[in-house]
Amino acid sequence: MSGKLVLGAQWGDEGKGKFIDIFSSEADLVVRSQGGNNAGHTVIVGDVTYKLHLVPSGILYPGTINVVGAGTVIDPKVILEEMDTLTAQGVKLDHLKIDARAHVIMPWHITLDDLSEKARGAGDIGTTKRGIGPCYMDKAERCGLRMHDFVSPEKFERRVRECCELKNRVITKLYDAPALDADAIIAEYRTYSERLRPFVCDTSSMIYDYLKAGKNVMFEGAQGTLLDLDMGTYPYVTSSHPVAGGVCIGSGIGPTLIDEVYGIFKGYTTRVGKGPFPTELDDEVGEYIRQQGGEFGTTTGRPRRTGWFDAVIARYAVRVNGLTSIILNKIDPLCGLDTIKVCTAYELDGEIIKDFPADLDDLARCKPIYEEFEGFPENISDVKSYDEFPASVKKYVEAVEEMCGCPISIIGIGPARDQIIYR
Ligand code: GDP
Ligand code: IMO
Ligand code: MG
Repeated sequence: MSGKLVLGAQWGDEGKGKFIDIFSSEADLVVRSQGGNNAGHTVIVGDVTYKLHLVPSGILYPGTINVVGAGTVIDPKVILEEMDTLTAQGVKLDHLKIDARAHVIMPWHITLDDLSEKARGAGDIGTTKRGIGPCYMDKAERCGLRMHDFVSPEKFERRVRECCELKNRVITKLYDAPALDADAIIAEYRTYSERLRPFVCDTSSMIYDYLKAGKNVMFEGAQGTLLDLDMGTYPYVTSSHPVAGGVCIGSGIGPTLIDEVYGIFKGYTTRVGKGPFPTELDDEVGEYIRQQGGEFGTTTGRPRRTGWFDAVIARYAVRVNGLTSIILNKIDPLCGLDTIKVCTAYELDGEIIKDFPADLDDLARCKPIYEEFEGFPENISDVKSYDEFPASVKKYVEAVEEMCGCPISIIGIGPARDQIIYR
């Protein structure tokens, strides 16, 4: 039995799509367990780029079952658009499964995401405005719409009408915005319900059966550790649990069924949206990294904020996820810089701290303490083995490994499938 989890260890966009795709060549089943189309996972094969939001990144392998798990939130319109794009790109979808327990993102969730962000004014979170938070709110409030109801010919209309009426009260009375038209939504979404029906099943039992049969199951994280609702930089977080524990809940399996937990980091740090970011580079070095790394959002196209690698965050991610291994991805965008810095600790009100603080006001006052490294040569993206790396790269990788207290097993040096180096 083998369950392997690959998750984001920073603020998202670490390159999960690339690694899930690579590892999926040996997987029998791949599962996404949380989040929705706030995620944007890029898979590049030859000269074709696949941008995946809800469909797991193992979808390119026809023999691999791909599951959108119980803990996800699914916008029916978006997943169908994504499925249509994949079909047009020649990808077969008969091995895609959607869990019956997953919650459905409806137009009122998107409207409410927009209205609540506007109401927060300057204190907005910078969400992707895809309705993610409001959908998870309804799940916790126990008034949400789940996939089994959405695809039920008997329950579809009644449940959609009930939910729409409830949410229209909030939209009109709390936000003073126009009500949504339930009839129009029912007419449009009935088609989506019919199209999605054949894909919906109980995936939790399927995942369990695969693991029990000794098959390879790959768990695909979305977002990242610091976007976790509990363990992240609250309130500048998403509304689900991207940490390792969330994967168990969202795919409906127990923790003993996961054998390996890979955390992906970039050789620097990025984040989209607002909130404190101790190692942020608001200068030409930050801009250089953004350009070299192509750091623009896969989902919203927003420029990503960039900064140096933060070992305080890394140690925190190792701990809260129980990482067994680190993937240090995207070190190639650092090439060409004279010096590379790594944050080893913070200074908070005159004291040195090595742990990531819980209180965001504390984090906002943290000043990074850096160790400096010699820059890398111009190009390292054609290297084929660890031994071939120049000494400056090895020194950086080994120092980061030491600071994190977890082995770095793979290094990423470019977006393509073959641009990874095993140690
Ligand atoms: P995800 O959300 O974690 O799947 O990551 P994204 O797809 O949102 O962002 C990662 C971006 O970096 C994508 O455009 C990838 O094609 C690209 N990428 C992945 N790995 C590497 C790498 O090692 N080097 C470079 N230069 N780009 C990479
Ligand atoms: P992947 O899977 C980076 C961020 C948003 C915002 C916050 C809350 O591609 O790594 P939400 O719409 O979820 O309520 O927004 O979370 N965010 C991401 N940032 N990568 C992601 O996904 C993200 N998903 C959400 O930018 O700051
Ligand atoms: Mg992404």
